[in-house]
Amino acid sequence: MGGATHTGQKRVDSFDFESGRILARKFEVVSRLGAGWEGEVYHIRELRTGIDRTAKFFFPHRNYRERFSTIYAKKLHKFRRCKVIIEYRTQETITYRGLPVSFLVADYVEGELLSSFLDHQPGRRLTAFQGLHLLHALASGIDCIHRMGEYHGDLHTDNIIVQRYGLGFDLKLLDMFHWGAPKPENIRDDVCDLVRIFYDAIGGQKHYAKQAPEVKAICCGLKRTLILKKFRSAGQLRDHLETMQWQGRNDKRRRR
Ligand SMILES: Nc1ncnc2c1ncn2[C@@H]1O[C@H](COP(=O)(O)OP(=O)(O)O)[C@@H](O)[C@H]1O
Ligand SMILES: [Mg+2]
Repeated sequence: MGGATHTGQKRVDSFDFESGRILARKFEVVSRLGAGWEGEVYHIRELRTGIDRTAKFFFPHRNYRERFSTIYAKKLHKFRRCKVIIEYRTQETITYRGLPVSFLVADYVEGELLSSFLDHQPGRRLTAFQGLHLLHALASGIDCIHRMGEYHGDLHTDNIIVQRYGLGFDLKLLDMFHWGAPKPENIRDDVCDLVRIFYDAIGGQKHYAKQAPEVKAICCGLKRTLILKKFRSAGQLRDHLETMQWQGRNDKRRRR
């Protein structure tokens, strides 16, 4: 699919790579995973090793002089010690319809999207205590990013993969926002998004009235100013979770 830019250049709005297509003589397309404003994400496989990876392809008109693919690659690299961020491997360029197209190769994460994980829970929600574990894993992961003065910027249940769930959660975050320098406001938005994910994961508005006081002390009825008065970064939220005392009154599901 394509159009024309104001300079008369061909414009690529969709790659639609079919499975089995070979890329840069190194990778084979397995399937398309997602499509967004700046490009498409594919599940790919290394030809030589058979190892699964993901590739994010940038539409050339959204990636002038490789600007955004480079920023994104460097950002992923910067977070290489944050376990919650997918590991970046390399960047490649192919020619597609006569245009150079860059793609970033990262590890393929085996697991389930948090959205689908929650849909599969009894009553499509977690108990409050499970939800606290989820929130703790998220807050700890994002604390690593906030400590670097950075932010995620697009936290929601389709950008979080549950790799393992047992005593706690192992999570990976996808799809970071990477436009523009970080502002304190961005970190605060991440905190509010975390609390919102927790609130929704334990049943949202429908079950909120019956939640335990400890839960309400975190969700603050989703009132932004109240949340931010308590937690100004993911680290503060994590500290709270690690020192809170759980009484669990009003939470009937606890005793199931
Ligand atoms: N590294 C990865 N490992 C496994 N699945 C991934 C990976 N990156 C993306 N995906 C899958 O592809 C979907 C789209 O990728 P994402 O990076 O969120 O881009 P966008 O939302 O812009 O399409 C995700 O919701 C997830 O299901
Ligand atoms: Mg996404």
